[in-house]
Amino acid sequence: MYELLPNIDCDLCPRLKSFIDENRKKFPDKYNAPVPSFGSKESELLIVGLAPGLKGANFSGRPFTGDYAGDLLYGTLLKFGFAKGKYKAKKDDDLELINARITNAVKCVPPQNKVTGQEINTCLQFLKTEIATMPNLKVILSLGLVSHNAVLKATKCRQSVFKFGHCHIHNLNKNLALIDSYHCSRYNTNTGRLSTEMFESVFREVKKILIYE
Ligand code: URA
Repeated sequence: MYELLPNIDCDLCPRLKSFIDENRKKFPDKYNAPVPSFGSKESELLIVGLAPGLKGANFSGRPFTGDYAGDLLYGTLLKFGFAKGKYKAKKDDDLELINARITNAVKCVPPQNKVTGQEINTCLQFLKTEIATMPNLKVILSLGLVSHNAVLKATKCRQSVFKFGHCHIHNLNKNLALIDSYHCSRYNTNTGRLSTEMFESVFREVKKILIYE
């Protein structure tokens, strides 16, 4: 507990560490390290993704930056007033988040985009710290089931009580709501599991909670 991010050469997950080492050799000019959260810790909204994408966050060093999921996520954040500036798919664009912070359940890129249960549990300490050190946190938005379950574990809430469902709102306690969304991956939009309208309705709900709470 108390660390926000694994150190740059974190080897708590041997499989992830060796994948990062491999990628450092293959792509020496890319970021290739645990990806820090983005946005102010004073924010009321925390968005939790799964893990960095190889050529997205793992290359750029900023969550969701540089891949399809990021195009959709940042485009929607801009539309709903949770971001300003221009998203240019790189860390040094002038995009700023407004009242929102973005993190991942697992901070290092996994092979084939798949994390193991053990890796989720090992990285949970950082998510716990993240949640515990956001003084104004009111809403957590989980992108996908892995994130939903990690958030429940991090907040000591039971999966049998809070079932994942797109746009479902769970009151974890009187000060904290969890809202679920299908992950904004290309796979989910291509297969029709997630449409732009469905993704936007999640942000409409988030806004309502933050305004009326
Ligand atoms: N990029 C991230 O940072 N997280 C995801 O879950 C997907 C892409």
